[in-house]
Order: sequence, then structure tokens, then C-alpha cells
Amino acid sequence: MASAPTTVTITGAGGQIGYALLFRIAAGDMLGADRPVRLRLLEIPQGMRAAEGAALELQDCAFPLLHGVELSDDPRVAFDGCGIAMLVGARPRGPGMERADLLAANAGIFGPQGAAIGEVAADDVRAVVVGNPANTNALIAAASAAGVPADRFTALTRLDHNRAVGQLAEALDANPGDVRGVAIWGNHSATQFPDVAHAAVGGAPVVEALAERLGGHDAALAWLDDVFIPRVAKRGAEIIEVRGSSSVASAANAAIEHVRDEQRGTGGATTSAAVVSRGEYDVPEGLVCSFPVTSDGAGYRIVEGLALDDRSRARLDASVAELVAERDAVRALGVL
Ligand code: NAD
Ligand code: LMR
Repeated sequence: MASAPTTVTITGAGGQIGYALLFRIAAGDMLGADRPVRLRLLEIPQGMRAAEGAALELQDCAFPLLHGVELSDDPRVAFDGCGIAMLVGARPRGPGMERADLLAANAGIFGPQGAAIGEVAADDVRAVVVGNPANTNALIAAASAAGVPADRFTALTRLDHNRAVGQLAEALDANPGDVRGVAIWGNHSATQFPDVAHAAVGGAPVVEALAERLGGHDAALAWLDDVFIPRVAKRGAEIIEVRGSSSVASAANAAIEHVRDEQRGTGGATTSAAVVSRGEYDVPEGLVCSFPVTSDGAGYRIVEGLALDDRSRARLDASVAELVAERDAVRALGVL
């Protein structure tokens, strides 16, 4: 018997990432060919016409899995009964802007949306925050969602994870599917730490494969420090510079993979997601921080017990310090 439709609410559905998300979700790319969906599109009045246009096109695709599309500018309507919330709507970063600039502008969006999720969403709701600054927006939404366990809120660092895999695959002339065990630690920002210490390519440790290709262990470590880490951490800015606006299709793809793996499981493989810390790796409790994670289909779990050498520890600490500063800035605004 076909399962009942899952209500998926997408905020900012009239925006660029929204447009790249909707059709793939309706086609079954996110929850699978066995799970029908009902889409709820939340927009502000200025974005409503674009969302209406997307709804017309969804109808024109005649997706068998799509059991209706509803639009609203009221979070309490859009999140009513929702099982999966994808919080995309926010102000994107433009050329020259840092994520910290966006804190004040976006803090006011995620509090009321979190509160509405607490009031009207399904009991088993899970929410992923895409809108930047994603980690701290997730912290705000989780803190505002009365009655919903905080660990139901996550933030997207799967795009950073995929970027890291893509860079390694190119450097090693490997297929991205053969690169395993990469981890993104910290904030979805330029302070993040893309870590390959436990990664393998085709079964061989990535650091050894790099050493073989680049002419020794020191050359491999220098490439990781000087090329790989900054390239991945600043890829968002590179895309903005080249495209003139922030990443869209790759962000939507990462959001789909984030939800798919959380809901359907990673099959034992490690990926990366920003989740609520319970003090793992000495990250202050309550922060929404990126860690290596797995899922068995019942939510992301942090992979514990990985060794972090002194340099890795320092990189993680620097990104965590930024998360603490963002949290404190939001507290100072009176939002938390
Ligand atoms: P966009 O400007 O094209 O779309 C944003 C949409 O959100 C607009 O249609 C706007 O009307 C809507 N919106 C604004 N406030 C809203 C509210 N309160 N409720 C509902 N909708 C609202 O931007 P985009 O390119 O789709 O990017 C969206 C966000 O995703 C940005 O914050 C961007 O920085 C972020 N982003 C995150 C990642 C990541 O990996 N975490 C990657 C890329 C982009
Ligand atoms: C990205 O990583 O592409 C987005 O978060 C956009 C940005 O501001 O970097």
C-alpha cells in the first residue's frame, strides 16, 4: 500500500534555491520513489508571484508522487502538519559581504519560523536550515520551537562536504564516489575545517594517495594547508565572485542529499552535517556545529572517538570560537 504523503515545507520557495529544489523533491529524488509528498511553499509577499509560477510549473510536470502544492505567507499555515521543514528563505550574501553581516537581518526570520514549527508541525518534524548564517539560524529556530527536541534541527554543511570530495577527486584523478570519510567540522563559513585525516580513496588513505602523487608527505600536507582547505572553505565566495550570486544548484543538491541521508540512512558511510552539540569533541553544548555524522534513518548521529591532532584541534577551536561569537551576538540582540 502506498504511504501517506509527507508534508515538506520549503521557505523562500520563490527564490533561486527553492526553484532548484522543488522539482527534484516532487520527482522523488529526496525521499524516494515510494514516498509521495505534499509541498508547502512559504514566501513573503514580494516572493509570492515567483512561488506561484513555480507551482504552475510543478502542475505541468504531472509528477505522480506530488499530492498537492499549497502556498502561504503565514508560517503557521505553511508548517501545519509538516514532517520536513527546509528553511531556505533568507537574505543571501552579496559580493564583499561576510556572513556576520547577515546575522541581524536573518535573526528575525528564524525565531518566528521556529516558534510556528513548535506550534503546528508534525510530532516527528525534522528541519534543515540552509539560509545563512545557517548554523546560528538553526540555533535560533531550535531555541524558538517549544516542545520540539533541539536535535530535530540541523544545518547544511553537506555542500562543503561535497566540495571537499570534488576537490580531492580532481587532485587524485579519482571518481568522487570513491572518496570516503571526509569530514567538515565547525561553522558553514570560511573558518570551517575540511578534514581528510580519516578519509580514503579507493581504500587507501587520502594523505598517502596525495603523497604519492605530489612527491612526498610534506608536499601532501602543504597542499592540504595551502590549497585544499582554503579552496573548500572559501568556495562559496568563489562562486559568488564568478556567478555574481551565491550557489544554487549545488546548494539544492546538497540539501536534498542531507535530508535523503537523514531520512533513509547513510548505510554506515560518514557524511557531514551541522547538528546540536551535546559536548562531543569538547564543542560547547547547544551549539549547532558541523561534525562527521552517520544516520540509520532516525536522525544524524555524531561519529565519536576520531583522533584530532593539535593542528586539527586548533582549526576546530577557531571555527567553534566563531560559532560562540555568533551565538553571543544573537543573544545581545535579545533573540535567544
Ligand atoms: P534568493 O534571494 O534567491 O531566495 C530567497 C527567498 O527567500 C526569496 O524568494 C525571498 O522572498 C524569500 N524570503 C525572504 N525572507 C523570507 C521569510 N521570512 N519567509 C519566507 N521566505 C522568505 O536566495 P537563494 O539563492 O535561494 O539563497 C537562500 C539562502 O541560502 C541564502 O541565505 C543563502 O546565503 C543560503 N545558502 C546557503 C548555502 C549552504 O550551504 N548552507 C548554500 C547556498 C546558499
Ligand atoms: C555557499 O557556501 O555557497 C553559500 O553559503 C553562499 C555563501 O554566502 O557563501
